[in-house]
Amino acid sequence: GGGGSDKIDYVFKVVLIGDSAVGKSQILARFARDEFSLDSKATIGVEFQTRTLVIQHKSVKAQIWDTAGQERYRAVTSAYYRGAVGALLVYDVTKRQSFDHIPRWLEELRSHADRNIVIMLVGNKTDLEDQRAVTMEDAREFAQKENLFFLETSALEATNVENAFQTVLTEIF
Ligand code: GTP
Ligand code: MG
Repeated sequence: GGGGSDKIDYVFKVVLIGDSAVGKSQILARFARDEFSLDSKATIGVEFQTRTLVIQHKSVKAQIWDTAGQERYRAVTSAYYRGAVGALLVYDVTKRQSFDHIPRWLEELRSHADRNIVIMLVGNKTDLEDQRAVTMEDAREFAQKENLFFLETSALEATNVENAFQTVLTEIF
């Protein structure tokens, strides 16, 4: 809340999933610290960052979990999803394969997470428009069929990153 109070009304756990190199860690860096790095290293295990924001006059601490897209570096799946109330399911708009793998990620998410979890499909790297390999229409159609929210982002240009988290956190409410 306001008035100089640092009271936290809610803590919401949100998880990031998707193939390696789609930009999960940079989406998180943009959201949590407004930073971006082009030579980001592959995540090993689990990392998390928090940011407190005000949603509908309540102070919400978003605890965002980030894990490796690479199988060999992944953390224990059940622990990763435990208690998560939101998820960003990320693919790279320039890598068709990362979009084709989304149904697998969704299956993992749905089998481990709470069934009321709010899911946002995120097509990242829209700044690379000339290399686009996944149309917005294809992604939107998939999202509608699977009842997911959908946005395209650029962590590099800071496009829609705030919007993606805000939408998920507001919907959790
Ligand atoms: P894992 O940790 O291996 O699962 O990968 P990740 O999904 O966390 O990818 P990461 O955030 O490390 O980004 C991979 C590469 O893509 C890095 O070189 C980033 O700088 C780059 N990248 C991330 N987001 C964007 C973006 O919006 N635009 C562009 N052009 N590059 C991006
Ligand atoms: Mg990473």
